[in-house]
Amino acid sequence: MLAADCWLLTAGELLTATLIGRQEVQRVSLKGKVAVVTGSTRGIGRAIAEALIDEEVSVVICSRRQRDVDRTVAACREREKGRVVGIACDVREHGQVQRLIDFAIRELGGLDILVNNAGVAHTASVADLKPEEWHEIIDTNLTGVFYCCHEAIPHLRTRGGGYIVNIGSLAGANAHPMMAAYNASKFGLLGFSEALFQEVRYDGIRVSHIMPGSVETDFSSGKKGWAILPEQIADMVITLLKSPSRTMATRIEMRPTKPSRA
Ligand SMILES: NC(=O)c1ccc[n+]([C@@H]2O[C@H](COP(=O)([O-])OP(=O)(O)OC[C@H]3O[C@@H](n4cnc5c(N)ncnc54)[C@H](OP(=O)(O)O)[C@@H]3O)[C@@H](O)[C@H]2O)c1
Repeated sequence: MLAADCWLLTAGELLTATLIGRQEVQRVSLKGKVAVVTGSTRGIGRAIAEALIDEEVSVVICSRRQRDVDRTVAACREREKGRVVGIACDVREHGQVQRLIDFAIRELGGLDILVNNAGVAHTASVADLKPEEWHEIIDTNLTGVFYCCHEAIPHLRTRGGGYIVNIGSLAGANAHPMMAAYNASKFGLLGFSEALFQEVRYDGIRVSHIMPGSVETDFSSGKKGWAILPEQIADMVITLLKSPSRTMATRIEMRPTKPSRA
């Protein structure tokens, strides 16, 4: 087994896997790993952070407002599992992203998992969309992911490998009127993820790009009843992280089984 193949295996699991010769199918433990989840004060990011904490991963919570971060950290600590810390970070600002990753290293001793989840959308025609709204979408959904990966990859390399999960969207494959900026950001993110996995695979860093359809969060107004639940995205993230490191799922499309016919 290559060194990069065992980044998630504890010594016991490694021994067991080797003894029974089933390392190709061995599910791995996340206990003690360190994760940064961007945009983790609500919605999908919050569900991912909570699922990681329940796996005894140490997690850095972040979003733009410190009071939301503090509130989320306090709530997550009540789960009494992995360590939870938090820092305000606007992923559109390179300096703030540097501070976020430095904070993870300083407070939790390293970095193994980066989940790029923070994202925004505005619905408007190209003629009506304000230039500042265009920049907010592109800078958050695309440039912010670049900043986070750029800062995190050297630290993942020093650990001998790691995992980057990018939360894209089915809007990264299917274009819709009134969503040109969001489409552009998520189409761009898909290309970014697919270039990235080829760059870092030999460092033992796996990259998965999850493309959900409608998810039941505050992101779009109104409770739908049929949409994917944030916890189901979180469950997919945990499944990916625990999957044997010989293989990686690079592009995952997740759809509501029965969307509204309207
Ligand atoms: N909900 C859906 O139907 C759906 C479908 C497909 C894909 N997605 C994707 O899933 C991801 C999460 O969506 P969601 O539905 O969970 O949205 P949400 O409920 O609005 O949560 C978004 C999170 O991102 C944070 N955030 C926004 N801008 C940020 C920035 N510049 N820097 C740091 N944090 C920022 C928000 O906190 P603050 O605003 O307080 O900073 C919040 O914590 C997004 O990338 C979205 O594109 C969502």
